[in-house]
Amino acid sequence: MYMEADVQDGVKGSSKKNVLLLGKGMLVTSENQIRRLKEAGLNEVTIDTSKGKDVAGGQVVAAPVKIKMPKKVTPAGGRETFFKDEIKMARQIRGASVKVVKDFMHNVATGGSIDTEKVNLASKTLTGSVFRNVDALLSLTALKNYSEHTYTHSVNVCVLTLAIGFAAGVSEEDAAVIGVGGLLHDIGKAKIPLSILDKPGPLTEDERKVIQSHPLFSEEILKKMGNIPEAAIAIAGQHHEKVNGSGYPRGLTGDQMHPFASMAAVADVYDALTSPRPYKPGLPPHIALRVVFDGKGTEFSSKVVETFITSLGIYPVGSFVKLNTEEMGVVVEVNPEDPLRPKVGVVFTRFGKQRKSPFVVDLLKEHKEGNPDARSIAGADDPRKYGINVEDYIG
Ligand SMILES: [Fe+2]
Ligand SMILES: [Fe+2]
Repeated sequence: MYMEADVQDGVKGSSKKNVLLLGKGMLVTSENQIRRLKEAGLNEVTIDTSKGKDVAGGQVVAAPVKIKMPKKVTPAGGRETFFKDEIKMARQIRGASVKVVKDFMHNVATGGSIDTEKVNLASKTLTGSVFRNVDALLSLTALKNYSEHTYTHSVNVCVLTLAIGFAAGVSEEDAAVIGVGGLLHDIGKAKIPLSILDKPGPLTEDERKVIQSHPLFSEEILKKMGNIPEAAIAIAGQHHEKVNGSGYPRGLTGDQMHPFASMAAVADVYDALTSPRPYKPGLPPHIALRVVFDGKGTEFSSKVVETFITSLGIYPVGSFVKLNTEEMGVVVEVNPEDPLRPKVGVVFTRFGKQRKSPFVVDLLKEHKEGNPDARSIAGADDPRKYGINVEDYIG
């Protein structure tokens, strides 16, 4: 397409006012050029139909025509900001929160001074990010830290529980309470010797009892602080309870559990299953989701499991998937409006050759463009079979 007239970025108040984007007679040949025009906020341009490929038989056709451009896109429902804008902030918030938990646990273990204000602030910051774009922090929960497991696990459980709460429609104020409970749910582990906590083998009966007392320690520590909300203490004390009464430490049933603790119980199991530990590798997300789903109504609240799956998607970030093209890759971003069509970083070509650097394909975009060769997901697999560490591709 040839431009009939100069195209300028004349958006009012813009610092780039009247920047010439394309001059008269310029040839537009690529999707990228059109995308840049859309990004500049232009809804239409005028093209010279006497030139260009789109003229049947190459004849001069009437006056210039206007092409309608699609309206500016907005983030998916329930999200204030785009993933790409929130993810940078989410990375920093997550890093800072891990440090807050680490310092807090260290101080509890060594009798140092306790600053609950820092935890409140971390929780509010995490909550803010979840309410702006839940997918950003959620995608980072696929990152596990082997050597600092307890701290990253605490932040992951916090974010996963917040995501459930957000999807269930809790207020931002309640979410901040959930956040405190999530960050501190395993604080009682500060009282348990590392030799038991990180034991690389099966536990003795006595060791198991010691480990299973950590929710009671968590509860006790938080109660003593005097300024931790009841619901946050309930998360700490009840996150290993099961709705059928088979959990610990008290064997509470679903209706005896605090609703926020029921959310944290699902988040806790999912993160524990997907994290590698000295005695086991981490499970791929689709297998862990299956385990959670199988416990629906017996171990976990049915409603919470449903909300969790809705919120995480069918193929959460970090899933290793095979495409209909035989290519394989890692889910790097979900498309909230279509859980079956996320963005995938293609790692293996259709011939099984590993790419030096993956390229990202947006399955929803390909689908919307109506391309008959649009890629789709054929199934999920275990990345370890292919020597892939998904964490190298996300975050
Ligand atoms: Fe725990
Ligand atoms: Fe935990």
